[in-house]
Amino acid sequence: MSENFAYPVGLRLSGRRVVVLGAGQVAQRRLPALIAAGADILLISPSATASVEAMAEAGEVRWERRRYQEGDFEGAWYVLITTDDPEANAAASAEAEARRVWCVRSDDAEAASAWTPATGRSEGVTVAVLTGRDPRRSAAVRDAVVEGLRDGTLAAPRHRTRGPHVALVGGGPGDPDLITVRGRRLLAEADVVVADRLGPRDLLDELPPHVEVIDAAKIPYGRFMAQEAINNALIEHAKAGKSVVRLKGGDPFVFGRGMEEAEALAEAGIPCTVVPGISSSISVPGAAGIPVTHRGVAHEFTVVSGHVAPDDPSSLVDWAALARLRGTLVLLMAVEKIGAIAAALVAHGRAADTPVAVVQEGTTPAQRRVDATLATVGEKAAAEGVRPPAVVVIGEVVALSSRAHR
Ligand SMILES: C[S@@+](CC[C@H](N)C(=O)[O-])C[C@H]1O[C@@H](n2cnc3c(N)ncnc32)[C@H](O)[C@@H]1O
Repeated sequence: MSENFAYPVGLRLSGRRVVVLGAGQVAQRRLPALIAAGADILLISPSATASVEAMAEAGEVRWERRRYQEGDFEGAWYVLITTDDPEANAAASAEAEARRVWCVRSDDAEAASAWTPATGRSEGVTVAVLTGRDPRRSAAVRDAVVEGLRDGTLAAPRHRTRGPHVALVGGGPGDPDLITVRGRRLLAEADVVVADRLGPRDLLDELPPHVEVIDAAKIPYGRFMAQEAINNALIEHAKAGKSVVRLKGGDPFVFGRGMEEAEALAEAGIPCTVVPGISSSISVPGAAGIPVTHRGVAHEFTVVSGHVAPDDPSSLVDWAALARLRGTLVLLMAVEKIGAIAAALVAHGRAADTPVAVVQEGTTPAQRRVDATLATVGEKAAAEGVRPPAVVVIGEVVALSSRAHR
C-alpha cells in the first residue's frame, strides 16, 4: 500500500473538539470550514491575524493567547498544527499520535497523520480533492469540478426526484455569457425549456438532444390567452415530472410577466424558483458605452415601458412628471412610439436637445447604436430602420460615451 494513498472520509465535527495551533494565514483559511461544520474550536496561539481575531470576537472560536503545552489535545477529535515553530509542531504532533487524534500539519505533510483536501461546494455537493503532494493541482481540479457543477458544463443530473418544479430563469440581454451561473446550471439540468425570442438563444443550441425546447411564441393557445397557454404548458410539464426551465430575456421581473407565471404556478401548487437575470435596461446601455448614472451628471435612472403611446388612456405612465426629472430615462419596448414619447417629453419641459441613444440588439453581434436628440429621435429611428428589440436612453449620460471614446 502506498504511503501517499490517503483514505478519504467526511468528518462530522458538530459539537466535537478541534484544536488549532497557530492563528496565521493557514489557520485563517481553514477556520471558516471548521466553523461551518459546527466544530467546538479551541485556538491556541499567542497572536492572530485580524480576521482570526474577528472570529474569536464573534464567539466562533475560543482563543487562548499562549503557546502549545503538552496536554492541549485532551478531548480533541482532530487537530490542526499551523505554527512556524518546528519544535512545538513536532511535540504537538507526537502528542496527537500518542492520543490517536488525527493531525494535520501545515509545515510537514509527511509527518502528519491526515491531509486537508482542497474543498469546494456547489448546491449541496461537497467536492474534496487530494493529490498527495501537489496542493496546487488539488485546488485546480477542485476549481474545475466546482465551476463545472455551478455552470452546468459538468453534467451531473440529480437522480433523487425533486417533485414538480419550475425555474423562472432570467437569461440576460442576449449574449450567452451574460446569463447567471445558476441560470446556466438549471438550463443544463432541464428536461424542458420554454424560451422567448429575447435572451440568450445561442444557449439553446448547446442543450443535449433529449431536452425539449418549446418556443413560447409558438404554443397554440386556442381558447386561452397566449400567457395562459404558456402558464398551462409550464404546469403540465412540471406535473408530468419534468424539470422545467422558463427562460426569459433580461430579468424575469422587469417587464417580463415573471410574476404572472409565478402566481399561476403557486395556484397550481407547483414550487417555483426565480433566478434573477441581467436586465437589458442597464446592460444594453452599458454595452453601448453608456452608464445609466454618472457622478455629477445623473443621480437617478428611471426605467419605463414605452409600449403604450403617451396619449393612450390605458397608459399608466406620468410623462409630465418624467419630463421634469433631470436624470436618465431608459425606455423599453419604445421603438414604435418613440416619436410620440419624445414629443410628449419636450412638450412637458425636457430640453429638445437632450441627447438620446437607441441601442438595438444590444450585447449581440448585431448590436447597433443610433444617436439623436429628443427633437430628432422619432425621424432618425425611422430613417435608420431601427427595429425591436431596442433600448432608448435619454439624458446627458448619452454624451459621456462619446466623451470617453474621443
Ligand atoms: C418584454 S421586455 C423584457 C425586458 C427584460 N425582462 C429585461 O429585463 O431586459 C422587452 C424589451 O426589452 C428590451 N430588450 C431586451 N433585450 C434587448 C437587447 N438585447 N437589446 C436591446 N433591447 C433589448 C427591448 O426594449 C425589448 O422591447
